[in-house]
Amino acid sequence: MASSSFLVVSSLLALVLSVLFFNGVVPMHAASSDDVVSTICNSTICKKTRNLSICFNVLKSAGTTDLKGLATFTLNLAHDKTIGNRALAQSLASKVADPDLKERYDTCVERYNDAVKDIEGAKGYLGKGDYKGLNTYTFGAMTEVDACLFSLSKLPKDSSTLPGNGKAVEDIYSIILVIANLLLGHA
Ligand SMILES: *[C@@H]1O[C@H](CO)[C@@H](O)[C@H](O)[C@H]1NC(C)=O
Ligand SMILES: *[C@@H]1O[C@H](CO)[C@@H](O)[C@H](O)[C@H]1NC(C)=O
Repeated sequence: MASSSFLVVSSLLALVLSVLFFNGVVPMHAASSDDVVSTICNSTICKKTRNLSICFNVLKSAGTTDLKGLATFTLNLAHDKTIGNRALAQSLASKVADPDLKERYDTCVERYNDAVKDIEGAKGYLGKGDYKGLNTYTFGAMTEVDACLFSLSKLPKDSSTLPGNGKAVEDIYSIILVIANLLLGHA
């Protein structure tokens, strides 16, 4: 008797808990994160970028589904990465003995100096809500990094992490370009 009423009480408790769990706070969280994953990240934005998995990981960390918020988060990340790549190019240029390689790294330092300026310009335009400026300046940074990558593509092939880091930062720029187009209504 005692044990069967315990059973009734505990199954009622289990029912109440499961109702709370599946219809309460937890599923609301799950639904909103599914939203980010499937709607915002994969379909609307990431499928149009150069690298789905980088895009997915970046936007997942942004903690927002608001387009301007996503752009701000991604642009700040792009800024950090661009500055990091410039520091790497500077360090490689200062250490390398081979004059041909030194020339390439010097080219990359110059290009990244301009890429940093472009990304900072893009941040200014985003702040003003000028999404055309955001697009133009982010594209400018992409062109600068492309020029560095082109210079590094000459033989003998560069063995540093600078080419891979350049591709990765371009993948991040491509997310900003897609978001800028969505903000401009050119989706
Ligand atoms: C979204 O893309 C990521 C990265 O490729 C993938 O792991 C995930 O399963 C995708 N989600 C949906 C709902 O398509
Ligand atoms: C996407 O980026 C990741 C991480 O940098 C890289 O390993 C992968 O090869 C890239 N995929 C494409 C399609 O470029």
